[in-house]
Amino acid sequence: MSKLFSPVTYRGLTLKNRVIVAPMCQYSCRHGFANDWHLVHLGRFALGGFSLVIAEATAVSPEGRISYADLGLWEDGQIAPLKRVTEFLRAHGAAAGLQLAHAGRKASAPLPWRGGFTETEAEKEALGFESWTPVAPSAERHSSSYAMPEALDEAGMTRIRDAWAAAARRADAAGFDMIELHSAHGYLLNQFLSPIANKRTDKYGGSLENRMRFPLSVAEAVRAAWPAAKPAFARISVTDWIESGMTADDNVLYAKALKAIGYDLIHCSSGGFDGASVPVGPLYQAPLAEAIRNRADVPTAAVGLITKAQEAEQILERGQADLIALARQALDDPNWPVHAMRELGAENSYGQWPQQAGYAVRAKDKALGVTR
Ligand SMILES: Cc1cc2nc3c(=O)[nH]c(=O)nc-3n(C[C@H](O)[C@H](O)[C@H](O)COP(=O)(O)O)c2cc1C
Repeated sequence: MSKLFSPVTYRGLTLKNRVIVAPMCQYSCRHGFANDWHLVHLGRFALGGFSLVIAEATAVSPEGRISYADLGLWEDGQIAPLKRVTEFLRAHGAAAGLQLAHAGRKASAPLPWRGGFTETEAEKEALGFESWTPVAPSAERHSSSYAMPEALDEAGMTRIRDAWAAAARRADAAGFDMIELHSAHGYLLNQFLSPIANKRTDKYGGSLENRMRFPLSVAEAVRAAWPAAKPAFARISVTDWIESGMTADDNVLYAKALKAIGYDLIHCSSGGFDGASVPVGPLYQAPLAEAIRNRADVPTAAVGLITKAQEAEQILERGQADLIALARQALDDPNWPVHAMRELGAENSYGQWPQQAGYAVRAKDKALGVTR
């Protein structure tokens, strides 16, 4: 049996295989509420054979949204539409994950496909447009095209930490099986970690120990609010790809600290600050997952331009990671796992399709002479 299609257990959650969907912002909410788009977008990955579907960066408070159209879990009313999603995913064999997030100084940004705040007044009304002043560790903007943030004081940081914990409790009520702490990509927790955004002179700035203090206190609050039987993952940027930024060495220490407070797996991404030179290419982040796995002695997920079944299998066989996460390739082919299973020679790949489809796909392949 391939490694890719072998099960794995984190706390009380067993995943049927090692292929998961990475979180992907859909910018499709009004005032943070999930809707039919989220059900269908996420649901198709369960039908396609992914073992765990991680829903997009979900804001723990309104000012923590990247854009006004982000998903949120800052109020109880936002639980029910997400419950519909988690129930569908589980009913079709996938575990439901949710990434909790706060964008910090990268908040209140335009929708990416618009390239600016181009909404007409009528669209603003229809889309639930909002804009606001972001908050951050320091009053320094991300880049010239982002808003100038207000620096957080301790009361603001406490409020945000409490919001993370409350959102984790709501995620549990919504039926999520796993939660992911978004500590990557230049968003709030990454802003505290990295000297690129953190210019504080109090106990939250300066040394790595100080810069980790707020992110780790949030991580602890989330872990305490989240059921012990359910796994928690953390997504980190293993390197900022900027000389003066966070390095893999720094992140080995951060990953060890996360592991010590109960995080079960580190989802290894990179980058997120302006001016990074990222060597993008096939499997470019797999060595980062390997470094964290070996040096922090913690399970990892590899992500980033993983598109081929054999390559995904090799990442696992080489011991670079424990899970394979797909983002854009999953959008391109929501049935990637069932196709990969066939490619890796599994006998029962047709059994991975929903019953409504499996017999029919097999009949099609028989007619084409692709299978017996
Ligand atoms: C449309 C889109 C939305 C994304 N949203 C998120 C997000 O909400 N949280 C996150 O950590 N990463 C997000 N990412 C990054 C992906 O999870 C992933 O790390 C990245 O796309 C690299 O993987 P890929 O090459 O398989 O696409 C997003 C990527 C895309 C393409």
